[in-house]
Amino acid sequence: MIVVIDGPAGSGKSSTARAVAERTGFTFLDSGAFYRAITLLYLRNHKNQELFFDQMKSCDLQVEFNDGRFSIRLNGETVTELIRDKEVSANVSTVAAMPQAREFVNTHLREFVKDGSFIADGRDLGTAVFPDADLKFFFDASVEKRAERRLNEMLLNGQQTDLEAVKLNIRERDHIDSTRKVAPLRKADDAIVVDTGLLTLEEQIQFVINTVKGR
Ligand code: DC
Repeated sequence: MIVVIDGPAGSGKSSTARAVAERTGFTFLDSGAFYRAITLLYLRNHKNQELFFDQMKSCDLQVEFNDGRFSIRLNGETVTELIRDKEVSANVSTVAAMPQAREFVNTHLREFVKDGSFIADGRDLGTAVFPDADLKFFFDASVEKRAERRLNEMLLNGQQTDLEAVKLNIRERDHIDSTRKVAPLRKADDAIVVDTGLLTLEEQIQFVINTVKGR
């Protein structure tokens, strides 16, 4: 079974999907982490596209979901924390707009879900990557709500930032993600829309679990 949650940055997709996975035994798949990991490669190649594509094609990207923890390794190096860095967040939408990068990530995502039950979060999972997913959700909330949530998460992780900087990053990413030519952020016609500005995290989790159980 494949369940997908798409939506803009900070709408609560990842926290919900991770908790649902823990409670149901599904495997959590954070598709944004793939884009973030290759963004590290892009930055390490000083944003030189030719070098970046070259290294991307031959890089080894591995993900794991064990004991409720999702981790990602790039060429053997665990980059789970590093990919949350501000510099990565500021550049990830640019990388995610590159068709070659999308093709690369999609191949990995489809490979990963070959066996078992998965709950994945992203931007284009219900529309482009897994159009035949068993259940599709689209999470959304105002920029203010999303920025507040993201800020709290970042402060808890010890990152230095403020509400205005987070809002700016969210607005920029919303714009790039929803206006890019290939697979823009868009609700699938058959997705269930959830306004996460009106719900607590626990309510979101319960709603997804109950809907999954109903299938
Ligand atoms: O969910 P996130 O904030 O970690 O995602 C990081 C970026 O990756 C986001 O700005 C857009 C891109 N992304 C995408 O284009 N398609 C996906 N399925 C997942 C993420």
